[in-house]
Amino acid sequence: MVTTESDNVIEISNVNLWYGDKQALFDVSMPVRRNRITALIGPSGCGKSTLLRSMNRMNDLVDGCRLEGRMLFGGTDIYSPNTDVNGIRTRIGMIFQKPNPFPMSIRDNVSYGPRIHGVEDREELDEIVERSLVRSALWDEVHDRLDKSALALSGGQQQRLCIARALAVSPEVILMDEPTSALDPMATSKIEDLACELEKDYTVVIVTHNMQQASRISDYTGFMYLGKMAEFGRTEGIFNKPKEELTERYITGRFG
Ligand SMILES: Nc1ncnc2c1ncn2[C@@H]1O[C@H](COP(=O)(O)OP(=O)(O)O)[C@@H](O)[C@H]1O
Ligand SMILES: [Mg+2]
Repeated sequence: MVTTESDNVIEISNVNLWYGDKQALFDVSMPVRRNRITALIGPSGCGKSTLLRSMNRMNDLVDGCRLEGRMLFGGTDIYSPNTDVNGIRTRIGMIFQKPNPFPMSIRDNVSYGPRIHGVEDREELDEIVERSLVRSALWDEVHDRLDKSALALSGGQQQRLCIARALAVSPEVILMDEPTSALDPMATSKIEDLACELEKDYTVVIVTHNMQQASRISDYTGFMYLGKMAEFGRTEGIFNKPKEELTERYITGRFG
């Protein structure tokens, strides 16, 4: 298959990022391929979450955070002063380490985003709720209790609900920051299966400290070290035949 520019939904070029005086990303470049899963791995504090959060301008919420370089999303500059930040965060959704459902019903969690975007029709909202919950592999477990509190769900169910909530506003990209690190192995495996299922229609970028997870589900892997992209490539290559000795030492568990 020939790879063209348009296969990259996000294009990151020479990005430097500072929190106040402290630089956290150094000259990071990488593509995010459309309809693929890209994993970011590397030791704690190496900048994985920072890089992920910069893709939908979540770092704007951090005082004193400054970015230089270029980040394109479908050809437009994510950091242009004209960019509609809320629009970016709708099209590039985010799932966090700790599931964070709103303290409201399952239905209202999923319909919240569409309602904010002006969808009022009850039938249309019901349809979005069902479609999003089916897509996040939660429908069968919750269809008979949509009006019960989301907080009564298990951790794994809550995380799939957060994914349904992100899907409800029809994003193109879903960013996941260690989405399974608070979950048991069964719940983790459901989220992994779901990520692989979502890849057909969406683009997924997942931060994980679990290298088995990265090698199981991702197509591309970026190995980060001390704020730099130490190595980026196809996942098989990174895990079976890394180019850098540092990558080899990390994936074989010699540090981290
Ligand atoms: N909100 C913040 N304010 C200041 N420094 C931060 C903030 N978030 C992260 N950092 C720093 O940036 C570096 C990268 O952190 P992070 O992106 O969270 O790494 P990782 O996700 O790989 O563990 C670390 O040195 C961390 O202390
Ligand atoms: Mg992190």
